[in-house]
Amino acid sequence: MKVSVIGAGNVGATTVQRLVELDIADVVMLDIVEGLPQGKALDISQAAPMMGYNVDVTGSNDYADISDSDIVVITAGIARKPGMDRSDLLKTNIKITQDVCDNTMNYSPEAIIMTVTNPLDIITYAAIQSTQLERGRVFGMSGLLDSGRFASFIAQEINCSVKDINAMVLGGHGDSMVPLPGHTTVSGIPLTSLMDEDAINRIIKRTVNAGAEIVGHLKTGSAFYAPSAAIACMTEAILKDTKRIVPASVQLDGEYGLKDICLGVPVKLGKKGAEEIIELELTEEEMKALHNSANAVSMGISSI
Ligand code: APR
Repeated sequence: MKVSVIGAGNVGATTVQRLVELDIADVVMLDIVEGLPQGKALDISQAAPMMGYNVDVTGSNDYADISDSDIVVITAGIARKPGMDRSDLLKTNIKITQDVCDNTMNYSPEAIIMTVTNPLDIITYAAIQSTQLERGRVFGMSGLLDSGRFASFIAQEINCSVKDINAMVLGGHGDSMVPLPGHTTVSGIPLTSLMDEDAINRIIKRTVNAGAEIVGHLKTGSAFYAPSAAIACMTEAILKDTKRIVPASVQLDGEYGLKDICLGVPVKLGKKGAEEIIELELTEEEMKALHNSANAVSMGISSI
């Protein structure tokens, strides 16, 4: 099997490292910067004797090298620079996404496409428009990362193993995300019976702000360890056809009362991509929050 990761920056390169350590597919890392993917790929392949993986890692600037990929992960993009507003960032990242999508359709028309570049839900929508592929073939990594952050804060708060936590975060991948304490459990025990409302609200706030909290520390650059972990989990579920259910950004067609938008909802991952959308029963308040989140994403989509 073969996975191509577009973008050899922090998220892309760490994703490649995690993927080869899973030892399930050959990996190609492609970037527009000459030498960057080649150098990182060489470095990663030289770690193989110690880490024990047997897959090939290739760094490239040539899209011909992504031919016949099973999955193409798009992390290419630029980060917001001082003086640049959100719409400039959006325009540039959409152009990059379209370029990556055109090349993917040329060289790997059968691939499943996972978007990662931000603003995630809008980029995912643009990738679907650009490729015209059916929605399950193009989706964004979002909710699994947000749920992972929610889970890690819950584990710290109640001092339990993070392994026992099953957290659920829906909605847009940004300030409007919708963490769902009512659909979050610790070894099957509802979170709401283990933590009081104030503590849950505090953790929800921290989850929504988790990406910004990291940027605040790093000053330049944003998170990449947890994002790459989420990408690797989703990639593994697809390659191994495990049918894991995780939240991801997919195009909705009436589900949750929403249409013509990409938003984070639970999906079933298998060899065909996001094979099924799971509709949770939401309270009136949760549904309202999801629709508010959808409005925020829709505004971005109309701007393109
Ligand atoms: N084609 C290929 N690669 C490109 C292109 C392009 N047209 N344009 C930019 N890139 C590459 C850059 O050269 C850079 O190496 O994308 C890479 C982005 O890496 P970083 O700047 O390190 O960003 P990173 O932290 O990896 O984040 C990537 O993921 O989580 C999101 O918000 C994040 O949108 C961002 C993306």
